[in-house]
Amino acid sequence: MKIAIIGSGGREHALVATISKSSRVNEIFCIPGNAGTSRIATNVEMDINEFDKVYKFINDNSIDLVVIGPEQPLVNGIVDYLEKFNIKVFGPNKIASQLEGSKIFTKKLCQDCGIPTAKFGIFENRIDAKKFLENTKYPNVIKADNLAAGKGVYICNNEQESFMAVEEIFDGKFGEAKNVLIEEFLKGEEMSYFIISDGTSIKSFETAQDHKRVLEGDNGKNTGGMGAYSPSRLINSNLENKILSKIIKPTLKGLSNLGTEYKGFLYAGLMIVENEPYLIEYNVRMGDPECQTILPKLKTDLVEILEACCNKKLAEVNIEWNSKKSLCVVLCSKGYPDTYKKNVLINNLENFTVNKNSFIFHAGTKKENNKIYATGGRVLNFISLSDNFLKARNEVHHCIKRLDWNGGFHRRDIGFKVID
Ligand code: AMP
Ligand code: GLY
Repeated sequence: MKIAIIGSGGREHALVATISKSSRVNEIFCIPGNAGTSRIATNVEMDINEFDKVYKFINDNSIDLVVIGPEQPLVNGIVDYLEKFNIKVFGPNKIASQLEGSKIFTKKLCQDCGIPTAKFGIFENRIDAKKFLENTKYPNVIKADNLAAGKGVYICNNEQESFMAVEEIFDGKFGEAKNVLIEEFLKGEEMSYFIISDGTSIKSFETAQDHKRVLEGDNGKNTGGMGAYSPSRLINSNLENKILSKIIKPTLKGLSNLGTEYKGFLYAGLMIVENEPYLIEYNVRMGDPECQTILPKLKTDLVEILEACCNKKLAEVNIEWNSKKSLCVVLCSKGYPDTYKKNVLINNLENFTVNKNSFIFHAGTKKENNKIYATGGRVLNFISLSDNFLKARNEVHHCIKRLDWNGGFHRRDIGFKVID
């Protein structure tokens, strides 16, 4: 088979690396990819939001299966576009992708299907939003409706902070805003829960815990994710049954009531309050860095799973996992998530080797004249599998120490809730 993966981050390098282990695969393309994917796939420089160009490449090269990594092309309808030409694509369609593309779509679906989530109000203008805020409890949570790459969410402790959030959102800080969402603050512990679906059946695709804040101790600004571990310390079979019966299954039923179905990875961002799950958000893709953390544990051939999803045969596949603990630390350019230098040489990465239970997935890197440069905010992911999280983290830190790059930084406390 020939497979194309769309995207250029750590998630996509992990997908490419896992797919490359399959005996079913002859050739892999990554559009556009990074320095890491270029070692095992052919990178194709292209704007992934120009669907006609993506289609032409896929058609010209007789690609058998396309896997979409990031949310933006999914929300813009790349799956519907390619399927019109009878191309096999792994990912949800445009309507189903509204689960991530519009927080209000998801909140309304929760309301219609009785899915547990924070109480909320939707406001079309500043005056109504502020009137509501005068009689509300704090802290509360104020969100822009758009795709805002993890930004666009304010936790507000008082009226002044919440008024500022409303102003910034309606001023267009996260793109044109037709609405704001004001939510009750849920106090609990977060967990990422993943499933994979072929539109008819679903299978669990593991759990993880991301670390979104830039500084140790979960302080500082929000980022795309500074590190993760899998499994989440919260998961147990009783909780999993509740997540499936109260959240995932009603969501898929809600989509079916809208005349559509869900094919792809679905990522539920949950708040667990006293062993009860509440939906905070959906993402219509694997998480990043959760994907890098989870995929090294997968024992079943990923291509078999993805193909089965496209052929509505997921029920026939038995997905097996390594029982080891996995921990991922993200190395970022100094300055991230604000401004940082680009095109900084990473000295010894080209010939860097790790042991068989450790993995390096690239994110913002590029290769030029056999040298690898940091080009993004999140640059590299170091992952280790071990019997326990402490050993996994020690091994990751040991690898990172050997890297000769003084333009980067990382959190040293990833997994602190399960380790320290
Ligand atoms: P979101 O983009 O909706 O996932 O929100 C980003 C982050 O804000 C989440 O990962 C949570 O840490 C936090 N958050 C969002 N909604 C709530 C809520 N209703 N209660 C508490 N924390 C929240
Ligand atoms: N790790 C958070 C995300 O992928 O959205």
